[in-house]
Amino acid sequence: MSTDSLDMRIVDHPLVRSRLTRLRDEHTSSAGFRELLTQLTGMLIYEAMADQPVDDVVVRTPIGPCPGAVLAQTPLMVPVLRAGLGMLPAATAAVPEAQIGFVGIARDEHTALPREYLVSLPEDLSGWPVFVLDPMLATAGSMLHTLDVLAARGATDVTAVCVVAAPEGIAALTASPHAPRLVIGGLDDGLNEASFIVPGLGDAGDRLFGPR
Ligand code: PRP
Repeated sequence: MSTDSLDMRIVDHPLVRSRLTRLRDEHTSSAGFRELLTQLTGMLIYEAMADQPVDDVVVRTPIGPCPGAVLAQTPLMVPVLRAGLGMLPAATAAVPEAQIGFVGIARDEHTALPREYLVSLPEDLSGWPVFVLDPMLATAGSMLHTLDVLAARGATDVTAVCVVAAPEGIAALTASPHAPRLVIGGLDDGLNEASFIVPGLGDAGDRLFGPR
């Protein structure tokens, strides 16, 4: 699925749907949640990287020369702490060429507004393909803040990779001057009065690491 105004891809695949079902299940343990998030991230990153440019190279097989490809640019993976950390091992396993930056944001539990507590990124992001990792896009406050931080460092090629998203968050990204490409595993119904995604998967950070 795509929208006219946002380059959005929902990865609609039986493996994504079945893993996401188990990820959502309140009976899934933290260990299970981490493993399922790893599996899902591998599939989402594979999709998110589909349009990356490559350079032509030639290798020699034991039989003879063979044309091949290498990624033309080094991607930057940016997990949004905490929950984005649960996506990082699969992202770097899929893209070992990648470098890694960090943005730490905690959503205020009363106002749902983002509070930044860490930025660790290259100073100049112009020319970098940047992949922001966060399991959940709810109001999009955290993602919009991250996009502002990236844009202030010159990033113009940004893909947000999220497991589940709410329509409210997608609308907010669409209206953003820094609208990214968006790759998601599931589009949910909406937000509840506490700005949690419904049906969602609960609080991904708490399910991965325990309550703060
Ligand atoms: C969650 C989630 C996103 C954000 C989504 O993080 O991982 O970062 O909320 O909500 P939003 O779209 O309304 O901003 P949280 O603030 O709970 O922090 P955590 O990952 O440290 O648990």
